[in-house]
Amino acid sequence: MGTERENWSTRFGFLMAAAGSAVGLGNIWRFPYLAGANGGGAFLLIYLGFVFFIGATVMLAEFTVGRMTQKSAVGAYKSVSRNWTFAGIIGVLSAFLIMGFYPVVGGWATAYIFKSVTGLLSEPSAIPSTFGAFISDPVRPLAWMFLYMLFNIVIVIRGVGKGIETASKVLMPMLILLLFSVAGYGMTLPGAIEGFRFLFVPDFSAVTARTFLAALGQAFFSLSLGMGCMVTYGSYLAKDTKLASSAAIVTTMDTLFAITAGVAIFPALFAFGMEPTEGPGLVFVVVPQIFAQMGFIGPVLSMIFFIALMIVALTSSVSLLEVVVAYLIDEKNWTRRKAVITTSIVMLVFCTLASLSLGIWSDWTIPVLGVGFFDFFDILTDKVFLAIGGMLIAIFTGFRLKKEDLKREITNEGTVPFAIFELWYFLLKYVTPIAIGFVAFFGARAAAQPALMVFGFSFIAVLALFSKKL
Ligand code: TRP
Repeated sequence: MGTERENWSTRFGFLMAAAGSAVGLGNIWRFPYLAGANGGGAFLLIYLGFVFFIGATVMLAEFTVGRMTQKSAVGAYKSVSRNWTFAGIIGVLSAFLIMGFYPVVGGWATAYIFKSVTGLLSEPSAIPSTFGAFISDPVRPLAWMFLYMLFNIVIVIRGVGKGIETASKVLMPMLILLLFSVAGYGMTLPGAIEGFRFLFVPDFSAVTARTFLAALGQAFFSLSLGMGCMVTYGSYLAKDTKLASSAAIVTTMDTLFAITAGVAIFPALFAFGMEPTEGPGLVFVVVPQIFAQMGFIGPVLSMIFFIALMIVALTSSVSLLEVVVAYLIDEKNWTRRKAVITTSIVMLVFCTLASLSLGIWSDWTIPVLGVGFFDFFDILTDKVFLAIGGMLIAIFTGFRLKKEDLKREITNEGTVPFAIFELWYFLLKYVTPIAIGFVAFFGARAAAQPALMVFGFSFIAVLALFSKKL
């Protein structure tokens, strides 16, 4: 390798970037609506189980593989065995697919910053219909999405240290303050206790195989796992950064954010007598309604909330863009600029399809699969690719890499202790693949979109068969 690989400049910078990647729309937009639709407390409990037993384990594996190989998603696998290249390719594809809908929602958040202070809140009863009209408009959401994507391009073109790290170091602490104030306010509302009960007292009567698959997919999505994102971030790590504690910190921060988002939304939601099963519009419909009840301060708080939402989205989507960019730089010798611009254009095309699928094309679905583009990108990645990607990285790390090498890498050549190495290794090698296998199999069987599941799994199988040619 000719030139020195770029590194994070400090451990704090890396932690902010990795936590910035993990904490995103997944925590604030997706987690509350999934929890709302899947019964609240029971979903939270299953989700937490997956996060701590499987998520944290896989995250440490991704950091380790990234730093060990000094390669991004595809290269990390390929440098060990060409038979495994497909696993990296699935990761790069997942990045395109997630970026096929993520910036659509990022664009909504950006738009709502301005909507908050331009009269959205003055007519609370119209807030739901305003959201519906906005996202189905053929032009406006696209314009906001382009703007949002532009922010991503600017950050990623500047590279890892100057762009991603600097942005995350400023944006993440800002966000923490913002979210805590909103959650703090929500807690003080009369009737808020009902929301706490919904979120924290599990009711298992609604739990099915689907709930498990949703919780598993959400765990991977929220922690940015299963597609080489944390492998890529790990590849920029200095040799003396502690891997295990970094994985623990990022996992914990991500979980705290999801719970805080839940606390920001559910108590207030119940206090105002709304329903938790609002779906993907939850944040955009419920939160402004909450703020609308607060009088003159409402619009300002609402604006702050959506700034926060856009910020978390941004520090995540840059990591997705970086996965593809790093692949093109590492494996195809592209320049960063060319990689960023080309990749973004493809992603914008996908996003345009996704956005239109919620509006003027909402009656059209992809033949056979039976879903529109937005759902296609979302469901395929979250319920198939990420889970299988997580399973593959666990099998790869557990069975293809040498145990001693892993130990040496995680303990920084024996200089930092990692007391639970054996436990981690066991969770990685056996528990993770088997658990994911079960959940994916039974979850897919019970899924509402069986054709799409079959399509996803077959796609991976075909890719694996032809992997040597990649
Ligand atoms: N974790 C981010 C969120 O919760 C999204 C994200 C960023 C992601 N990078 C990823 C999801 C890699 C899966 C894989 O919003």
